[in-house]
Amino acid sequence: MSSKTTLRTALTVGTLLPVALGLAACGSDDSGSDSGSTTGSSSGGGGGKTIALLLPESKTARYEAQDKPGFEKALKALCADCKVIYSNADQDASKQQSQAESAITNGADVLVLDPVDAESAGAMVTRAKQSKIPVISYDRLISKAPVDYYISFDNLKVGKLQGENLVKALGTPAGKSIVMINGAPTDSNAAMFKKGAHSVLDASGVKIAKEYDTPDWSPDKAQTEMEQAITAIGKGGIDGVYAANDGTAGGAIAAMKGGGIDPTKVPVTGQDAELAGVQRILAGEQYMTVYKAPKPETEAAAKLAYALATGKPAPAGLINGKTNNGSVDVPSVLLDPVAVTKDNIKDTVVADGTYTAAQLCTGKYAKACAAAGLTGTR
Ligand code: BGC
Repeated sequence: MSSKTTLRTALTVGTLLPVALGLAACGSDDSGSDSGSTTGSSSGGGGGKTIALLLPESKTARYEAQDKPGFEKALKALCADCKVIYSNADQDASKQQSQAESAITNGADVLVLDPVDAESAGAMVTRAKQSKIPVISYDRLISKAPVDYYISFDNLKVGKLQGENLVKALGTPAGKSIVMINGAPTDSNAAMFKKGAHSVLDASGVKIAKEYDTPDWSPDKAQTEMEQAITAIGKGGIDGVYAANDGTAGGAIAAMKGGGIDPTKVPVTGQDAELAGVQRILAGEQYMTVYKAPKPETEAAAKLAYALATGKPAPAGLINGKTNNGSVDVPSVLLDPVAVTKDNIKDTVVADGTYTAAQLCTGKYAKACAAAGLTGTR
């Protein structure tokens, strides 16, 4: 632990310089990056800091629906005159590189970076370091680079929960066939989900009839993969589908419907508890998802970013582990994921306030909601 102190001190001292640049840049909000935006009041001499939040893609709902608003809200609560430079890279690693560059030019004091490509993101860390700007690796681990902190979930456990629930849904897995739709090969998390899931599935006796890595986590590519699997295996030969997140589950389920497979009879996994995913679970079309509560993740990111921006150490009690990224042991905040099926929607995503019953129980979901004990507006 103490070996990190020197690095941290060196970095935090350096954060004083870019504040001045931030003030200079306040007038022009959007500096040309397509999906970049700036929110919050300018520092106005009140000591407000500038934090860049760089998220990887927009085909998965969580980033725009949960991460961005959650982070902005949490930061505002800590510091009313802090500013967020927000960018979404739309699955494009080089676009993310320019967004990081632009955030640095516009006075970011800290980068909160969720990388499109774990390996190439090291270049952004190097660039940030040149300007003495600390980097928090958000949700996905940036590999082989001197990252300051890492905030995520236990991603191996995410994969295990998916595998365990699929095995449970299959009843007697031995002799049954499944299709595996993994995440993007450029995402370090995807490898962890895959490893965790394999550790359970391989031991269960289930046959993995087809397996795909899905470029960019794209739901449409997942749909194509599932179509190919149905053609290769035959619609009667698929007993279950491992989909790494709700976006890819949505693609797989669309392919199943198009290919004559009833998704209410063939269990499909997911992750993220996105609104559409939870509604599919209510409707019986998706078996499970993994809930990674957005609030603790965005709040931890805001607290750490603010501490780093103001030259303070990580708030007490926040760091609960270390994660080696191939170059350093990164002090980490690792949160606990939870499996969600029809039975515990009420006690997880609704109890937490991530969704109200009213949000979930629209139109055709009303009846299923009543069965799941979800009534009223809260
Ligand atoms: C995140 C998942 C997300 C996926 C696709 C992963 O790194 O942990 O929550 O569904 O990326 O964006």
